[in-house]
Amino acid sequence: MGIGISASFWRLLVLLWLLTCAILLQPSTPDPDDEACLTHLSESLQDPNNNLHNWTKTTFKDPCGGSASYLEGATCNSGRIYKLSLSNLSLRGSISPYLSNCTNLQSLDLSSNSLSGPIPSDLQFLVNLAVLNLSSNLLSAQIPPQIALCAYLNVIDLSDNLLTGPIPPQLGLLVRLSVFDVSNNRLEGPIPAALGNRTGNLVRFNASSYVGNKDLYGYPLPPLKSKGLSIMAIVGIGLGSGLLSLVLSFSAVCIWLRVSEQNMTVEEGKISQLMPDY
Ligand SMILES: *[C@@H]1O[C@H](CO)[C@@H](O)[C@H](O)[C@H]1NC(C)=O
Ligand SMILES: *[C@@H]1O[C@H](CO)[C@@H](O)[C@H](O)[C@H]1NC(C)=O
Ligand SMILES: *[C@@H]1O[C@H](CO)[C@@H](O)[C@H](O)[C@H]1NC(C)=O
Ligand SMILES: *[C@@H]1O[C@H](CO)[C@@H](O)[C@H](O)[C@H]1NC(C)=O
Ligand SMILES: *[C@@H]1O[C@H](CO)[C@@H](O)[C@H](O)[C@H]1NC(C)=O
Ligand SMILES: *[C@@H]1O[C@H](CO)[C@@H](O)[C@H](O)[C@H]1NC(C)=O
Repeated sequence: MGIGISASFWRLLVLLWLLTCAILLQPSTPDPDDEACLTHLSESLQDPNNNLHNWTKTTFKDPCGGSASYLEGATCNSGRIYKLSLSNLSLRGSISPYLSNCTNLQSLDLSSNSLSGPIPSDLQFLVNLAVLNLSSNLLSAQIPPQIALCAYLNVIDLSDNLLTGPIPPQLGLLVRLSVFDVSNNRLEGPIPAALGNRTGNLVRFNASSYVGNKDLYGYPLPPLKSKGLSIMAIVGIGLGSGLLSLVLSFSAVCIWLRVSEQNMTVEEGKISQLMPDY
């Protein structure tokens, strides 16, 4: 009997302790970094169709407050934004560097909009970032090599943009990458071997990750056929012009011979005129 009472007492105590812990761990104040992140992002974005209808200064103050009333496109975990998914919302404008203030962000999807300007190098401060999908926008300038500092990156999809310059070789350091797509941009130069030819148990990416960049070359893209053709063209032009100059000089020699032959006959005539007949 005595043992029974003390057991239920202890059970109650443990329950109370767990409850206290849960209350203490509950975030009491909204995060100022997330507020700065959302405020600056909404300032840099244009939303002509008013798809982000509840992105207001008031909701930014406590974006993860209230279990059901989350901000459009934002998902919270432990009182912090950990996922932003704003795909296909006709958004314009640019990506604010202050997005890096959402330091708990694990997944960022701004795909299929009309976002322009560069990819901010400040994304390097999103040390928990695992998914980066910025595909199908109008993003320009170079891929910032700094994003290689987001060591947990699993997915990088930058396809269908206007990105220029080389693929940063530093991206080869991202050992967790399982999806990598930079197809259909304006990238140039060699594909870094650490990305194009991944070894060991790293996920390998085939040519479909790189196609549609006019001046990008190297494995796994097929060897440039246009370069072979231009070499052929150079050889052709060389041979052609050689032949042409040969024909020209041959005709020149012929003409010269003809002319000098005529002169010769004239001279001969003169000579024969001058010479007295014997
Ligand atoms: C914002 O909009 C989304 C989707 O329309 C809705 O689920 C959410 O509850 C809204 N949040 C607030 C704070 O009104
Ligand atoms: C994008 O949004 C448009 C209109 O809102 C819709 O018709 C289309 O199916 C969407 N596309 C995708 C891929 O979700
Ligand atoms: C917020 O982001 C900006 C731009 O990256 C940076 O300068 C600033 O230090 C960040 N603030 C905090 C509190 O992390
Ligand atoms: C990125 O988003 C687009 C839709 O906007 C989707 O089709 C594509 O599969 C996504 N990329 C990855 C790697 O999930
Ligand atoms: C890829 O890497 C392997 C091992 O390092 C090497 O033997 C092979 O030649 C490389 N292939 C290309 C196309 O660079
Ligand atoms: C290339 O890789 C993609 C995604 O990993 C896959 O869907 C596709 O079938 C592959 N293509 C070839 C030719 O192997």
